[in-house]
Amino acid sequence: MKIADWGRLNGEVVVFGGPYSNRQAVEALRARTCDAAHHICTGDVVAYCADPCGTLDVVRTLGARVIAGNCERQLASGAADCGCGFEDGTACDLLSANWFGYASAAIDAQARAWMADLPDWAVFTHAARRYVVVHGAATDVARFIWGSTVDAEFKNEINIIEEEVGPVDVVISGHSGIGFEKQVGSHHWINAGVIGMPPHDGRAQTEYVRLSEQGAVSFHRLDYDAPAAAAQMRAAGLPEGYAQALTSGWWPSEDVLPAALRRTHSLARG
Ligand SMILES: [Fe+2]
Repeated sequence: MKIADWGRLNGEVVVFGGPYSNRQAVEALRARTCDAAHHICTGDVVAYCADPCGTLDVVRTLGARVIAGNCERQLASGAADCGCGFEDGTACDLLSANWFGYASAAIDAQARAWMADLPDWAVFTHAARRYVVVHGAATDVARFIWGSTVDAEFKNEINIIEEEVGPVDVVISGHSGIGFEKQVGSHHWINAGVIGMPPHDGRAQTEYVRLSEQGAVSFHRLDYDAPAAAAQMRAAGLPEGYAQALTSGWWPSEDVLPAALRRTHSLARG
């Protein structure tokens, strides 16, 4: 396993997950946050949407520090799917066969080499706190950790992380697509959400996190040209369910979600 040490970061830090080949979203993030001192990406630069190469270019020219997501690991190795381990016949399984093949055909050897070189995890210090960045979880790059995951599971992941990298104050993760923050004993766990797909709450805006110079955590919604990103997906023949999700704010694939995060519960919550 490759663990990067990004040292001490000063100033404001923007943390974002899953650009998902959504160039319009990452361009909007760049415009909105170009004053930040640092950008950190929790992986899955290339996934569901229509512009893998354009998205990679923006992330790289932004100077973002990136860890590998399961998508980068799978694309770099020439695998046949995204590596989420979806059950056969589920909505995610059927949709992933389409977009993963499109993404894999779109990227070149140089992009694959860049992905292969990304670290699995990274550590850094900021505002007197020590952070670790993982994609899904310590036990599996493609593990879905939700805000509703039980504390014992968080503690197990934190124990494994600290055995590997020593004591940390904060864990940053991605992969699941819905941002949250949670206090687990003395540790803080932040999932910054993703910028490439809205967080299944009926709004098209995606989400990201800012760490202020003093270390305060704030979640932000990202307005971007979602209709243009959706139109580009349709023109490329990508799955309609994900194209529609960009503008409706609802995922087509609830079978990956715990019951409390499904649409019926979201609507009941108002
Ligand atoms: Fe992922």
